Amino acid sequence: MLNTKPQLWLFKTLLHAACLLPAVWMFYLGAIDSLGADPVKALIHFYGIGAVHCLLATLSVSIISKKLRTPLLMRCRRLLGLYVAFYATLHIVCFLVFEWQLQWADVVDEIIRRPYITVGFVAWLIFVALTLTSLQLAQRRMGVKWGQLHSLVYLSLALALLHFYWSQKSPWNEAIIYALAGAVLLYSKRARLMEWRKLFR
Ligand code: HEM
Repeated sequence: MLNTKPQLWLFKTLLHAACLLPAVWMFYLGAIDSLGADPVKALIHFYGIGAVHCLLATLSVSIISKKLRTPLLMRCRRLLGLYVAFYATLHIVCFLVFEWQLQWADVVDEIIRRPYITVGFVAWLIFVALTLTSLQLAQRRMGVKWGQLHSLVYLSLALALLHFYWSQKSPWNEAIIYALAGAVLLYSKRARLMEWRKLFR
């Protein structure tokens, strides 16, 4: 199904559209005041969930690529990974601008004082580090350290899902379904996670 370079190019274009258009559409709805009674909450929710969806999709690529026997699919992993950082950053920017009105002292205070925000912040720092080192040039320059750094994506998945669960008011919430999906993904990568232990020895 994805066997040639033109097919890959078309698939990547569709992926860009699928990832980018919902974010732009939400922004547009916000700009024309059509996001309901609590537009800030709607934006924060949408961009937060968007980041989680892209993260789960990124980590599923290798499994799907193996199952469908389409190695070219692996070339879409970086693209999806960049959208994780994109959505997570939009989620955070909404807080910085609308909730905390760019009061940096309050921002630092919240990050230190509220553990679920600390956890989300650490997850975001990992996404930023992975994004900044995602180019092949960085991969070549960093050598084995690149693999070590990029293994942190599994930690960021666990932190992002913990942050999601912790942010909810009731103990039974939709984050549990995402946590189950994350646990299945981590279980399927258990061999890779074992290698990870060796990398840090
Ligand atoms: C500095 C980093 C972050 C801050 C300050 C932050 C802040 C918050 C806060 C305050 C909430 C609760 C919203 C509410 O119910 O009113 C929340 C929810 C959430 N966050 Fe974050 N977050 C951060 C990073 C992340 C990251 C990296 C992700 C995903 C990869 C993420 C995904 C989510 C999701 C899915 C929710 C639940 C949204 C909802 O149900 O409305 N957050 N975040």
